[in-house]
Amino acid sequence: MSEHFRVHGGARLVGEVDVVGAKNSVLKLMAAALLAEGTTTITNCPDILDVPLMADALRSLGCQVELEGDVARITTPAELSFHADSEAMGKLRASICVLGPLVGRCKRAVVALPGGDAIGSRPLDMHQSGLEKLGAKTWIEHGCIVAEAEGLHGAQIWLDFPSMGATENILMAAVLANGTTVIDNAAREPEIIDLCLMLTQMGAKIEGAGTSTLTVHGVTELKPTEHRVIGDRIVGATWGFAAVMTRGDVRVRGVNPHHLDLVLEKLRMAGAEVTVYEGGEDEGFRVVMDGRPKAVDFVTLPYPGFATDNQPFAIALSAVSEGTSMITENLFEARFRFIDEMIRLGADARTDGHHAVIRGVEKLSSAPVWASDIRAGAGLVLAGLCADGATEVYEIFHIERGYPGFVENLRKLGADVERVTS
Ligand code: UD1
Repeated sequence: MSEHFRVHGGARLVGEVDVVGAKNSVLKLMAAALLAEGTTTITNCPDILDVPLMADALRSLGCQVELEGDVARITTPAELSFHADSEAMGKLRASICVLGPLVGRCKRAVVALPGGDAIGSRPLDMHQSGLEKLGAKTWIEHGCIVAEAEGLHGAQIWLDFPSMGATENILMAAVLANGTTVIDNAAREPEIIDLCLMLTQMGAKIEGAGTSTLTVHGVTELKPTEHRVIGDRIVGATWGFAAVMTRGDVRVRGVNPHHLDLVLEKLRMAGAEVTVYEGGEDEGFRVVMDGRPKAVDFVTLPYPGFATDNQPFAIALSAVSEGTSMITENLFEARFRFIDEMIRLGADARTDGHHAVIRGVEKLSSAPVWASDIRAGAGLVLAGLCADGATEVYEIFHIERGYPGFVENLRKLGADVERVTS
């Protein structure tokens, strides 16, 4: 028995939708709980499969983890296991972020090389070289990354590329190192700021969060804390694109609109009227679209550039826009595999290296399609909303790794979508 989504195109999405905590933040915050003995509480956790998987990974290291509603309570023992090679570890990409905390706490780690999305090659060289600068030896053995250190010391580290994962791992090892570490060309994503905020609440001394230079003054121990996960800007963007593509009117709550500045600007360029709401319970934005979207170009880059995770939505939007769009992918080469599925739906698209040219068509045409990763899956559903007839989207477990209540939210906004068991 398998499940898929059946999407009947044609509805205009109208209404309100709530966004909960960011997948790409919560998993790192859960790993950060390894850094302090005692109970750390994380709130606004999304109800997605990766959270219980991460909980299992932490349990295999000796933590007790309670998941209740949107709250995760992680109790970290004085003595942690440093063998992170359980089945759960291999299943999610973010499991690699236990590497830094384990090296920080235990001075050694054996971490299964991560699974996750099929979006292209995901090397760990910068994670390794950063930890080596801090005094660890690292190598790959039997499908695991192994790290060992006598002790960790502060260092000057220049990253070749502002990698989120490498920044997070180096940061989480450096907070317990002896002396000062400077990470240059660090990632600036809002999820990195969220992690820095939680680590600071735990007693870490970090300067420069949200800039390309992070300075970390090592401390001898951290204490547990309570922290609320930031809203998921990628899920927020998904709803924004859906509103424009279906010529709808969608109010999105629970996400900081400034984390979406460039996305919202692109939606305006496509012809949407966008209103932002700052702070408090109303935080979010509203996208109102009247008429056919105009073609816009997109270039993916690390934050504050246009997120690679939003690239499938950019392609889906371009496929139904008036005019020709150029999409440039600078992070993950295999993300363009999604275009083959879009072509099944009638998109006029071709790729050349890391560029794609999409000539918008008036309407897409339904077909069976297969999700290859979380965002590609969501992008196919958005495309299905603009297609004639019923589009069947398979391999939906990918989508459910990133979108809590996706079908329910779509239906609430008026989409004709159902989950089908076959
Ligand atoms: C995270 C996000 C993912 C997002 C990506 C880029 C999580 C769980 N996942 O992934 O959704 O698409 O950021 O915003 O947070 N690289 C190297 N060597 C390394 C590390 C990275 O060459 O040691 C390269 C990668 O191949 C890629 C680029 O750097 O081209 C960015 O990757 P990175 O920011 O590390 O992505 P992740 O942290 O894996």
